[in-house]
Amino acid sequence: MTLAQDSGSVTTKSQKIRITIEIIHFEPTLKTVSNEAPFDPARIRQDFPILQTEVRGKPLTYLDSGATAQKPAAVIEALDRYYRCENANIHRGLYHLSERATEAYEATRGKVADFLGAGDVDEIVFVRGATEGINLVAHGFIEAVLKPGDEILISHMEHHANIVPWQIAAAKTGAELKVIPVTDSGELDLARFEAMLSEKTKLLSIVHVSNTLGTINPVRSMIKQAQALGVPVLLDGCQSAPHMPVNLAELGCDFFVFSGHKLFGPTGIGVLWGKREWLERFPPYQSGGDMIEQVDFAGTTYKPIPSKFEAGTPHIAGVIGLSAAIDYVNALDRVGALAHEAQLLEAAVEVLAGVDGLRVIGTAADKAAMLSFVIEGIHPHDIGTFLDADGVAVRAGHHCTQPLLKRFGLAATARASFSFYNNLEDVDRFANAVHKLQRFFG
Ligand code: ALA
Repeated sequence: MTLAQDSGSVTTKSQKIRITIEIIHFEPTLKTVSNEAPFDPARIRQDFPILQTEVRGKPLTYLDSGATAQKPAAVIEALDRYYRCENANIHRGLYHLSERATEAYEATRGKVADFLGAGDVDEIVFVRGATEGINLVAHGFIEAVLKPGDEILISHMEHHANIVPWQIAAAKTGAELKVIPVTDSGELDLARFEAMLSEKTKLLSIVHVSNTLGTINPVRSMIKQAQALGVPVLLDGCQSAPHMPVNLAELGCDFFVFSGHKLFGPTGIGVLWGKREWLERFPPYQSGGDMIEQVDFAGTTYKPIPSKFEAGTPHIAGVIGLSAAIDYVNALDRVGALAHEAQLLEAAVEVLAGVDGLRVIGTAADKAAMLSFVIEGIHPHDIGTFLDADGVAVRAGHHCTQPLLKRFGLAATARASFSFYNNLEDVDRFANAVHKLQRFFG
């Protein structure tokens, strides 16, 4: 394999088409990105300390950004600075440090709103991650919306976090969970989707970009179709927010969730954005300090949104780290980053094409830089372990999408997921390790 020497010149016809499609796909939101330097993969890589390290005596080849992204020095330093110099609880202290921490925390809410193209800062709720965001919305629907006979529509490619809360919601309320099928190429069956939407549908909750297949769903048109029938839409943006500009005003959905750690920020912090009318309609999800106005044994009143949903001391450091991560992403040439990721995916698909018995799971026309695959006769866990010996980190397993894998007749796949900080040397090392594996297993 000599991809690394060909850096920048792995340009097949199909790759050019893919990049063009993706740029057109996101064109309306690209206006929000400004003043960034042209994308330079070599320089970007230097921003991520962990990528300069070795694993098992080999350079780390990190291809598991779908599970969690690596952190730029700016994020690590923001966390370090906060704990060394700025640590204090928020909304409680009348002293300088607490005021500074409160300001930084609340300023991040505005930054997140701008990042997502959301107009109303009160609609940004800090949560532990996308999972908690979806659970919060499910709780609201259980308490305030769903009745027997109602339907909740999800898809067959959802992550467990966008399945199980709705199963519980259905069981608690007598509503029914409906599932949009997925085609053999890993795309949503849009004809079936249209047929399944009805006045019984009380929510459409779907993934923007599939964590297992990489499929970029046509969410804009789906949202339009749903809303034409008055159906609100929740988008799981875990895998879209890190890869592409998201503009909620343009998308027009009702809820959006993402996790900070997949967006180059810390673990344990995430965002739920929800339209004011929905958040105001929902009761508190958790209760305790900081979400109340008055507590009396005769009764308690709650603060308005978003505080109503942020009980207890929040993950202040997580929010500070998320703020630094958003600054980092905002400073990127995101069009260049997206084109670079598309090039990595194309290169990886090309080099794996020669591997006997290898099958790519998820071949959608519009696809993010994720590559799930199986190799006949070799268990995905063996693929993961074998590649690790060469310093190549891929995820192997069900990717928290068991129903989806069952749909493809599988229990597990190996998955390489790329980010803009990967390079063609990474693809090269990945390909070499897979070829070595194939020789080893015969
Ligand atoms: N949902 C994460 C993944 O896809 C953890 O790996």
